[in-house]
Amino acid sequence: MHFPCLSFYQILAVFLRHIFVSYKKYPQYSSYLEILNNSKRKGENMSICSEKAIIYHQEKINEYYYSLWLITQVASTARAGQFISLYSKDKSRLLPRPLSICEIDREKQLICLIYRINGEGTKEFSHLQANDEIDILGPLGNGFPLQDKPALLIGGGAGIIPLWELAKSLPGEKILVQGYRSLAESIFPKEAWNPFVNESYVCTEDGSLGEKGNVLDVIRNKSLTAQVIYSCGPRPMLKAVKDYAESLSIPAWISLEEHMACGIGACLACVCKTKHKDKHSEVHYQRVCKEGPVFLAEEVDLS
Ligand SMILES: Cc1cc2nc3c(=O)[nH]c(=O)nc-3n(C[C@H](O)[C@H](O)[C@H](O)COP(=O)(O)OP(=O)(O)OC[C@H]3O[C@@H](n4cnc5c(N)ncnc54)[C@H](O)[C@@H]3O)c2cc1C
Ligand code: FES
Repeated sequence: MHFPCLSFYQILAVFLRHIFVSYKKYPQYSSYLEILNNSKRKGENMSICSEKAIIYHQEKINEYYYSLWLITQVASTARAGQFISLYSKDKSRLLPRPLSICEIDREKQLICLIYRINGEGTKEFSHLQANDEIDILGPLGNGFPLQDKPALLIGGGAGIIPLWELAKSLPGEKILVQGYRSLAESIFPKEAWNPFVNESYVCTEDGSLGEKGNVLDVIRNKSLTAQVIYSCGPRPMLKAVKDYAESLSIPAWISLEEHMACGIGACLACVCKTKHKDKHSEVHYQRVCKEGPVFLAEEVDLS
């Protein structure tokens, strides 16, 4: 069949919609939730829930970013480094949008997401107001393992978002380095991290905030060291972090971002090349939404 002007995601959306429609007629077809329930039966992702979250609060925090607080059961089980999928109300946008969990307030059953408008889905989310409802699925992905060792947390651009809950959760000594293109694109002030980390640095490519340069420049200039690295950000930065960790012979946990479709390990839209073979398909690829998004840097091919 020929699809003249359709993108990969639109074709996938048509395909998934077909599965949904067929499922109603032919129960042998699996829907998202059936796949999910099967996973639950196998003992995987026991805590994933599909629910209508309620908007607690939303605000535009700067020229680019919005912070969105949701009242959700996801808060009970979510961990730093996991993400949730948010569904559009517009049924022409069938695929959910993945967003990292920035902060968890278990007591009040709240989670905070920080996002920027990238396309129609995130634009729709930016109009959500307190008490509105939104369909979500989560928590998804593996999250960061919490090691009780001196840690270096390195975030670039929007990659800083999942490091906030990580900084709150990690038990040991922590140094935080955040890098942005410019002051206008920055998310967290340097001082905001003070309650959770021992040292905090910020840099920008144009020097409009903090040191001028990138996160690796700061780390080298200040001779920052640790016994474990946690990082999230653009791929070239993660590649540099991986090389740096290898030069120090310390582990680096990196969170990858790939374009996603189902978000639950069913479609293989999000695979990355890894050292280890996938259990089912016997190929050297793993699903970022399921086995990730957090991987040990030495195990993934970032070239
Ligand atoms: C694990 C993970 C965590 C993320 N966390 C954040 C975050 O905390 N804050 C933030 O601002 N952005 C985050 N993103 C990127 C965010 O998912 C995209 O900006 C968003 O999906 C774009 O949707 P859209 O409808 O606005 O854009 P469109 O371009 O219209 O989206 C079309 C389709 O492409 C997918 N898509 C587009 N861009 C991305 C992308 N970068 N990653 C994955 N799928 C994409 C969408 O899910 C959708 O199915 C994250 C992505 C991943 C994979
Ligand atoms: S997005 Fe479908 S397998 Fe990852």
